[in-house]
Amino acid sequence: MSETIESILEEHRIFEPSSNHQANIASMEQYKSLCSEFSNNFEATWERLANEHLSWKTPFSQVLNQQQAPFFRWFEDGKLNLSDNCLDRHIAAGSGERNAIIWEGEAGEVRRISYHSLLADVCRAANAMRTLGIEAGDRVIIYMPMIPEAAIAMLACSRIGAIHSVVFGAFSPQALRDRIEDTGARLVITADGGGRRGTTHALKPNVDEALSEGCQSVERLLVVRHAGNDIEMNSQRDINWHEALNTEADYCEPLALDSEHPLFILYTSGSTGKPKGILHSTAGYLLWARLTMLWTFDLQPESDAFWCTADVGWITGHTYSVYGPLACGGTTVMYEGVPTYPDPGRLWKICADHHVSVFYTAPTAIRALIKAGNEWPNRHDLSHLRLLGTVGEPINPEAWMWYRNVIGQGRCPIVDTWWQTETGGHMISPLPFATSTKPGSATLPLPGIDAAVVNENGEEVSGDGGLLVLRKPWPSMLRGVWGDDQRYIDTYWHNFDGRYYFAGDGARRDEDGYFWIMGRVDDVLNVSGHRLGTMEIESALVSHPSVTEAAVVGRPHDIKGEAICAFVTLKVEIDDSQAEAAAAELRAHVTKEIGAIAKPDDIRFANNLPKTRSGKIMRRLLRDIAAGREITSDISTLEDQSVVQQLQRAR
Ligand code: WTA
Repeated sequence: MSETIESILEEHRIFEPSSNHQANIASMEQYKSLCSEFSNNFEATWERLANEHLSWKTPFSQVLNQQQAPFFRWFEDGKLNLSDNCLDRHIAAGSGERNAIIWEGEAGEVRRISYHSLLADVCRAANAMRTLGIEAGDRVIIYMPMIPEAAIAMLACSRIGAIHSVVFGAFSPQALRDRIEDTGARLVITADGGGRRGTTHALKPNVDEALSEGCQSVERLLVVRHAGNDIEMNSQRDINWHEALNTEADYCEPLALDSEHPLFILYTSGSTGKPKGILHSTAGYLLWARLTMLWTFDLQPESDAFWCTADVGWITGHTYSVYGPLACGGTTVMYEGVPTYPDPGRLWKICADHHVSVFYTAPTAIRALIKAGNEWPNRHDLSHLRLLGTVGEPINPEAWMWYRNVIGQGRCPIVDTWWQTETGGHMISPLPFATSTKPGSATLPLPGIDAAVVNENGEEVSGDGGLLVLRKPWPSMLRGVWGDDQRYIDTYWHNFDGRYYFAGDGARRDEDGYFWIMGRVDDVLNVSGHRLGTMEIESALVSHPSVTEAAVVGRPHDIKGEAICAFVTLKVEIDDSQAEAAAAELRAHVTKEIGAIAKPDDIRFANNLPKTRSGKIMRRLLRDIAAGREITSDISTLEDQSVVQQLQRAR
């Protein structure tokens, strides 16, 4: 991909929206009228939508309480249950026989789960958790492969008010332990293993290892038998999920919970310290999950099969594999396996086999599949597709065009959705049948969302790049950082005297007011759509006994978007012939500390890292070296000039 950021900014192609009178938002006029309803009466509009779209046990009395800002409270005094909104409600409306989940495993096995049967499973799981003493407010860790039981566990937690924290199955025992300890979870739900690339990967043994140190809060482990791996069960602590559920009743009354009852904690990387536990609460999150499904994806629950390829370990999997589609009574497709197994046509085969009509994935996957060649999508019937979405990182116009022409066959609108773990759901995105699109632009904020690009003083800038902010609170916003109120304030509300939410992204608006997201302005990397903190990887590296110092930066990568490049100084001197082995050892060490997704692509060794006279590592210089670019930093003040040549040479 030869495009540079400059060529993306010069992108002028415009694609008019196709007309679809049945669409949930069917024209630009309708979009604008919703936006003006919000600007004329912000709270009343949210009130109307919350009443129209959610099923309440007790109505709320206040739309938005700003007294403790930035700790905003939405729909106070209202009571509802999320799983009731995602399940019982659709069954009562006569959709019980509709597929809630269509799951496919890597080997091709398929499970179809109706709303009726999903409710029964969720109730059994909820009852089983109650039998184990789990109550509202308790934390439950879910460390699972991409199987229906992951969604069942999430919904079961919400049924009884337990707060779930899903940990991505590829995170290491150490990363899992950190999250268990931070949440103080009483229960861990896991599986014997998961399927990937024709083999299985361990999950339960990772939990055993995590629990071997600390983690005093954990009392029980529920273990789903799935991969058929041999695992050890600790009879004092571990319980077979299926056995536990079998003895439970298939109905459990949904607990009426406060609108602001915490729903889940999801860890994400920031520029400092360990990942932070982003906290979301019930009503606002649910409302926005549903509205964005209806608006951005134009979901038609009776006829669509919706497939979001994200794992439930990420926010995209939470909102768009599980909660959003189910909140609408739609059908969600889940796949456990890699996109290229057994061949690069796998995703397209799944789309064809399950008549997927709305498909949502990350640019990194699109770029990888472009490389595999057009013969793969061309082999499968993609005629059911009617809408395509992307998320997670900027999409380069070339990939956008391929997605449109080859996958969408020129027929499907593309929604490039900008949002974050913290925002709960989409913030900036085209509406497929209302917004003209430009390849590479997330276009305009959704109705109700007040996004802007500002300079460091908080003044709006046009044309030039600036910082992306959200100027008004929104229902699905994070409610805080678990256990660390100050970190919430410092990270998101510090920059503009607490007036605006600071997203951490740079952006630019063009002459039509369209947003072009330029990427993170902090020390957060976006590797294959996964968010990783450079500090986190640096800490993992320096925890190795032979490392003195480490600095991690990103460099552009054709497929992954960004690759991880680490600069390391060691306690012992090594020669070139030893560098490879040392790098391999450090990669294995980072995999152990965090997980394989954080493994550096490049590791370069030097006697020193380049620092300013005040001792700050010169990160811009390192970024230039990592990318093999001409050096733009002033290096005349460097104490040790030879370091630069050494790092440029090192590989
Ligand atoms: C980036 C994922 C450009 C951005 C939902 C953001 C994007 C971070 C887009 C959040 C997009 C997400 N265009 N960049 N459409 N969507 N990003 O928390 O840098 O894993 O801040 O949430 O991904 O990553 P997170």
